[in-house]
Amino acid sequence: MTDLRTELGEAVAAAFAAEGVDAGLARVTVSDRPDLADFQSNGALAAAKALKLNPRELATRVAARLDGDPRLSAVEIAGPGFVNLKVAEATLANRAQVVADDAAMAGASPVAEPRRVIIDFAGPNVAKPMHVGHLRSSIIGESLKRLFRFRGDTVWGDAHFGDWGFQMGLLIVAVGDEADQHPGANAFLAEGDGPFPHESPVTLEDLERLYPQAAAKAKEDTAFRDRARKATAELQAGRPGYRALWRHFVAVSRTALEREFAALGVTFDLWNGESDADPLIPAMVEEIKSKGLAEFDQGAWIIRVVEEGDKRELPPLLLVSSEGSAMYGTTDLATILQRRREQDFELVLYCVDARQADHFEQVFRAAYKCGYARPGQLEHAANGTMNGADGKPFKTRAGGVLKLHDLITQARDKARERLREAELGTDLPAVEFEDIAAKVAVAALKFADLSNNRTTSYVFDLDRFMSFEGKTGPYLLYQAVRIKSLLRKAEAQGVLPGPIVIAEPAERELALTLDAFDAAVSDAYDRRAPHAVAEHAYRLAQSFSKFYAACPVLAAGEPATVGSRLALSKAALDQLETALRLLGIDAPERM
Ligand code: ARG
Repeated sequence: MTDLRTELGEAVAAAFAAEGVDAGLARVTVSDRPDLADFQSNGALAAAKALKLNPRELATRVAARLDGDPRLSAVEIAGPGFVNLKVAEATLANRAQVVADDAAMAGASPVAEPRRVIIDFAGPNVAKPMHVGHLRSSIIGESLKRLFRFRGDTVWGDAHFGDWGFQMGLLIVAVGDEADQHPGANAFLAEGDGPFPHESPVTLEDLERLYPQAAAKAKEDTAFRDRARKATAELQAGRPGYRALWRHFVAVSRTALEREFAALGVTFDLWNGESDADPLIPAMVEEIKSKGLAEFDQGAWIIRVVEEGDKRELPPLLLVSSEGSAMYGTTDLATILQRRREQDFELVLYCVDARQADHFEQVFRAAYKCGYARPGQLEHAANGTMNGADGKPFKTRAGGVLKLHDLITQARDKARERLREAELGTDLPAVEFEDIAAKVAVAALKFADLSNNRTTSYVFDLDRFMSFEGKTGPYLLYQAVRIKSLLRKAEAQGVLPGPIVIAEPAERELALTLDAFDAAVSDAYDRRAPHAVAEHAYRLAQSFSKFYAACPVLAAGEPATVGSRLALSKAALDQLETALRLLGIDAPERM
């Protein structure tokens, strides 16, 4: 199935080719003057220069070739040589009908060659509370996961759980220092093979309290830091009590995190941890050394990654520290090996904060050098940050990082408040009202994020995100609910959708918007930019709103018009819900 722009693009390219112009120059774009035309081609301007022709003259000849194409109702020349195209109403109606009948993809098309894709996103860490820094990666990664899957790829979303390294040693020592407060803790701290208690000696609250304390203490207290280092080394070497205790840390954290992610509509197919890649590290390091890909430098093993043409010098990847430890980059390299074996990926997208760009560049170059992936198979889909009004990464009023849990609670409170103000959902049962508030909260947070470019930072402003007016998630939900209520009313009256006919300007515009979904989806896919889908969702909601204001549906009178408008409304809803789902947003049935 092709969209109108592609289809007309082919016709225009053929007309240019017949005039001896390279078809590559004859692009068709959506008109920037929708009052005059639907699509336009500026090809004559570029081509005339190359052929030393008068652009208006060339445009006139191209237009003459297009004249009479039954898909077009008007072909006109404008300005210095633009070719303006107006699509025939029957063509628009046909295309809208195709979209309306496409239950699976609402007019979007699948990829030609599906791939096996891993989306590495969110990257939560054991014991460290999730904060707003993890928010964008979670929201963007979830959306890309859905988008790639929607277009037919085989996709694994992986949380890449930060469950290994120094912070684990810190926790072990911190629990040990207050073991008398944690029933059963001593059993884990003793040397030997156990048995160890099945109950966790610590709760999530314990971990979230202990981790920041221990991290701060380690900065000042060298003896404490050394004990934590030793505990880390012993854990990694397999000391049974430490392993058993660590498994509790991981389980307690993961359970809480999954609950939090679920509240945000974020799920994972894999919860592989950094620890899972650990067993691969010794052999990997040996192999890299034996192939001469690593260098011994000031007591450490490094992989040099500078390439010709680099504008600045990228530091080498630290493979083994001078203390003999594997590093963050080592783990990521081993994870690539693991994924190569387990998923045999064709693409890995790392949805991680832009501030980790150098790290990923080092890892990717090292991986290509070692032959663990082919160039182009690893990609950092970097994101900007969510900032406070001061332009710095968002902090709470008290100056701390905002925990995701608190953010969700705040968003739900605000959603309830706004719904009550607008008298939406207030007459519904309490359980349903709660569900609506939760959906509005998620829509507000996610849409605010995804309506920005992935790489740009934006300012957190819950009041604005939560408004039912303007370019917001709540506005989109409101429009979706409005269509649902219209469809329910139609059903109650026994009115059925009929064949689509396009007559009014607002119907034209809605049909053109429905047509544009395919391009928005493939653009979002190609650029890893859910933003393009967010833009489309907003444009669609607006087109529908205009249509609904200008064209009565159930009160249209003529049964054929009622049927057609109902079908258009249903197509708009299906596409809007599809777009929202790609953004990770669910619309309620009513509000
Ligand atoms: N856990 C890391 C952090 O909090 C993010 C992990 C990103 N993914 C990766 N493969 N390195 O910074």
